[in-house]
Amino acid sequence: MFLLLSSIVLTLLLLVALSKNRKPFYDGHSLPPAPWPHLPLVGSLFCHPPTMASLVVVLRRLHAAHGPVVSLWVGSKPAIFITCHDIAHRALVHMGTTFAHRPATWSSGLNSHGVNSATYGNRWGLLRRNLSSHLATAHVTGVLRSSTDKLVKNLESASAGEDDGVVVAPSETFRHAVFGFFAALCFGEGVGEDTLRRLRGLHAEIIPLIVELDAFHLMPVFLQVVCYFPRWRKLLSAQRRHHVLVTTMISACRRRREEGVGPDVAQPRCYVVTLLGLGLGEDEMVSLCWEYMNASVKTTTTELEWIMARLVLHQDIQQKLRKDIASRRASGNHTMTCGGRRRRPFVEAVVLEALRLHPPAHYLLAHTTDKDVTLDNYMIPKGSIVNFSVASIGRDATLWTDPDVFRPERFVEGGEGSGVRCTTGGSDSGPETMKMIPFGAGRRACPGAGIAMTVLQSFVEDLVRRFDWIPVASGVEASIDMAEKPGIITEMRVPLRARLVTVRQNDVLL
Ligand code: HEM
Repeated sequence: MFLLLSSIVLTLLLLVALSKNRKPFYDGHSLPPAPWPHLPLVGSLFCHPPTMASLVVVLRRLHAAHGPVVSLWVGSKPAIFITCHDIAHRALVHMGTTFAHRPATWSSGLNSHGVNSATYGNRWGLLRRNLSSHLATAHVTGVLRSSTDKLVKNLESASAGEDDGVVVAPSETFRHAVFGFFAALCFGEGVGEDTLRRLRGLHAEIIPLIVELDAFHLMPVFLQVVCYFPRWRKLLSAQRRHHVLVTTMISACRRRREEGVGPDVAQPRCYVVTLLGLGLGEDEMVSLCWEYMNASVKTTTTELEWIMARLVLHQDIQQKLRKDIASRRASGNHTMTCGGRRRRPFVEAVVLEALRLHPPAHYLLAHTTDKDVTLDNYMIPKGSIVNFSVASIGRDATLWTDPDVFRPERFVEGGEGSGVRCTTGGSDSGPETMKMIPFGAGRRACPGAGIAMTVLQSFVEDLVRRFDWIPVASGVEASIDMAEKPGIITEMRVPLRARLVTVRQNDVLL
């Protein structure tokens, strides 16, 4: 017994010593600092409970101690975390092809055939071009109109008849509207309510079962097996039911198209129809549909909730927005400045400011490199997991005045954010265009950024035009908790509640 114990202790000491003395990768270039000890096979997470909340705490401590580039060890691989916009710009834009890769994943779940998980290469290029061109050519006006009408009607029926309004918790109504909008673009407009409800139910069942830390590739495989085995059985069962439902929806879409029936026949092609044209297998199509809905719904819904929470909190900005909407509609949406350039509508400034302060994804999806590179004097070994902190860049006090203050005016002409673009792609774009990256930057930047901006602006505009959003209690600050719930998508810890008063048609200046 004594011999056994001694050999375990000796082995552990040896492993600690080995990990402590890990040599820099190349002469003169050290690896980004990491907490000690990081044991081979187990990594830094050995010392911390593997949750998103603990990851946030660990990273905050590490960055405070070591600066903008730090690492955690996942088994024998470094997972590097970058918080500085200059370094992120260099990696994602200047060294774009090197950093355009995604770490390999061993799981064979719903995400395995998506654009996001595709190896940077021909297949990725084909799928991404297909998605981008579908989104660019989708005629969203009609679908958007009917989705916002339904959203407004649902909220109106809740607040009708009460002069001083009704308290609502609108998250669920938002989710329903956003889901309906993207489902119509993905599967066509001919899908019945019951099928959509079942699909939504399956998404709601599957998402909480997905291991969040897996998104950062932070859980060594064997730890995942040990910690998460029980939930895998549930996940597999839900995925099987999702597969059956989505293949049925795909077949129905194909049939409607072939037979020339249903409301979507005259519409531009939905996403499923574009996929049918690529000659993909069933699993690939189901995975791509899952990705489409998964990537779009929670991000957009969460952002909508943050925006409306901000507008409840800042009544002056809500009034200013309502006036801007009214004057633009009165002038037939003419938003040119005297120099002939397009003026950014205030609603766009509001959405951008919310995305800066409350990006739904606090980190980009994990990237990796196809070769050893040096970045900020640190060696990034080939195959490292590289994570970019969206939230830190948006709230960086060296880039933004009063970064914690919600001030959409910074995005109007002449403001410090007026030159910022939502996604920065070309190598000619300078770091000043990349002062925030809610949709990423470079080759892997979100292909849905444009449509997400359109949806958010349209929903916010209608919500503000049709309702007064008032704090539930007096004492504005006290009534809304702006705390965050850490996750792959950072939601409000306490869902928004607000008093809604319908704006009478006569009072609407439009
Ligand atoms: C507010 C809404 C959205 C936000 C904040 C958002 C954010 C992001 C972010 C941060 C990334 C990772 C970029 C990187 O790793 O460099 C991403 C990737 C992606 N997003 Fe979005 N997204 C949104 C909406 C959408 C929509 C509407 C779609 C499609 C319908 C979409 C599809 C994708 C796909 C396919 C990728 C992977 C791209 C690739 O790997 O090449 N997203 N998104």
